Amino acid sequence: MADRVEIFEVVGRDGLQNEARFVETPDKIALINALSGAGFTKIEVTAFVSPKAVPNMRDAAQVMGAITRRSGVIYSALVPNLRGAQAAIDAKVDEVNLVFSASASHNQANVRMSCEESLTALAQIVTACKEAGVPANVSIATAFGCPFEGVIAPDRVLGFVGNCVDMGVAGVTLADTTGMANPAQVSALVSAVRARYRALPLTLHFHDTRGMGLANVYAAYQAGARRFDSALGGIGGCPFAPGATGNICTEDTVHMFEQMGVPTGLNLPSLLEIAKTLPALVGHDTFGHVIKAGRSCDLHPLPGGASAQSA
Ligand code: COA
Ligand code: ZN
Repeated sequence: MADRVEIFEVVGRDGLQNEARFVETPDKIALINALSGAGFTKIEVTAFVSPKAVPNMRDAAQVMGAITRRSGVIYSALVPNLRGAQAAIDAKVDEVNLVFSASASHNQANVRMSCEESLTALAQIVTACKEAGVPANVSIATAFGCPFEGVIAPDRVLGFVGNCVDMGVAGVTLADTTGMANPAQVSALVSAVRARYRALPLTLHFHDTRGMGLANVYAAYQAGARRFDSALGGIGGCPFAPGATGNICTEDTVHMFEQMGVPTGLNLPSLLEIAKTLPALVGHDTFGHVIKAGRSCDLHPLPGGASAQSA
């Protein structure tokens, strides 16, 4: 059997952060609790960020404090700075996910720091996390392209990955914040990172902004990646990146891997049931394909009651 992949659910954070409607705190808690039963090993619950910058995440501590923790699931939260990391640690997250951008201009727009300032903050955060016994993952945003600067040089990204490794982070996520990556580029960068840092737990975070999301997942998988972020219903996007749209869709990603015979450990029918609850929460239709078309193994009766014959 093919290697198993791990799919990390980010709907509670990336999925909801840029929605026009604030999803009420009890609804967020119920959503995370439902997802906890679907087989995920890691769920990004929320973000400890400025409530002025991202009002939808203003209830981070309440959500983190009220979810029902299932053993075997890592409940993580995104943080932009040391203050956020401390708040996340106080809220007893299992893992901190620190974000900074490979592009200087997106880093300014997103967390109002230069990359150098972010790296200094990162070192402080990793130290604080080590002292608290909480693993720190680093997400490098705009790793494949920036809406302000265009393509980011792979060497620059590799350099940042090296900085993270030197600090002793628990893992690195390469994020394609606005869906600019293409499969050839993904294959090259994933191969380069794996060649240089083979022991590093590497996660890929794709957005489907230009319809290349699942092609990029497959390219990364072929290059050896086994961890992916995705959001239920394919919702999401960065509020500080013009033109940002949704993450790759969890149900569609799970369906693709299952059809390929690659185990995900996830319960697809249960995910589809939870995905059906999303439009009422966010107030609009969501972007999954499988939820509309059904799984490719869900066959339809022939019209007129005739029996199926192979062609
Ligand atoms: N959590 C909550 N509040 C925070 C905070 C945090 N982690 N960090 C700063 N703040 C508060 C400050 O207390 C201050 O509040 P006040 O205006 O009421 O005094 C306000 O936020 C601004 O603080 P400042 O230090 O001046 O930061 P800033 O205005 O330069 O903003 C960030 C920097 C990082 C806090 C802000 O840009 C941010 O939260 N960005 C998040 C980006 C994000 O989540 N993007 C999507 C994911 S990729
Ligand atoms: Zn994202």
